[in-house]
Amino acid sequence: MKKRVGIFVSGGGSNMRALVEDMDARHPAEPVVVVSNNSDAGGIAWARDAGLATVVVDHRPYGRDRSAFEGAISNALAPFELDMICLAGFMRVLTAGFVTPWRERMLNIHPSLLPKYRGLHTHARALEAGDAEHGCTVHLVTPELDEGPVLGQARVPLQADDTPEELAARVLVQEHRLYPAVLRRFASGDRRPLML
Ligand code: GRF
Repeated sequence: MKKRVGIFVSGGGSNMRALVEDMDARHPAEPVVVVSNNSDAGGIAWARDAGLATVVVDHRPYGRDRSAFEGAISNALAPFELDMICLAGFMRVLTAGFVTPWRERMLNIHPSLLPKYRGLHTHARALEAGDAEHGCTVHLVTPELDEGPVLGQARVPLQADDTPEELAARVLVQEHRLYPAVLRRFASGDRRPLML
């Protein structure tokens, strides 16, 4: 039986698209549903056109009540009987109440070489620090933001005249290599970190 994967997006979903396109007939996992907090997310439109099920739960009506928002997602996801979740450009912080039942079964991609630069604006921070290299990390999601066990990393060199946008674009290319490779390995039961 293939692992049933739900993929969470907030925007264009380029990482989601890379994951979906990599899950071929021989892959140990299959994309079952694409979830977003944003009905305008390009990733939702793409998923619909690709014939995938989609779930949108707008976080705004829930205000500061994160657990109510997460409860609505959990209710909408129940019929899909997922085995695991991949966060892919999902821009809402998830509480321990949502993360803990998915512990060891939820992955995220973060645009830095964790543990460096948790949180936002990672490319500008790496440039500001004058780092020689930067990159992206796939990790298991734990209640602490961007803190879980590393499942894979890919590196890019920094160039002195890089803008954050140019660096982000170079990192994104590596994200689209790394995340599918890590998911394929993880879904087959292999949790050894993959260093590209
Ligand atoms: C990327 O920088 C990714 O590292 C982060 O969200 C951004 C957008 O990702 N997780 P995507 O293009 O929506 O997959």
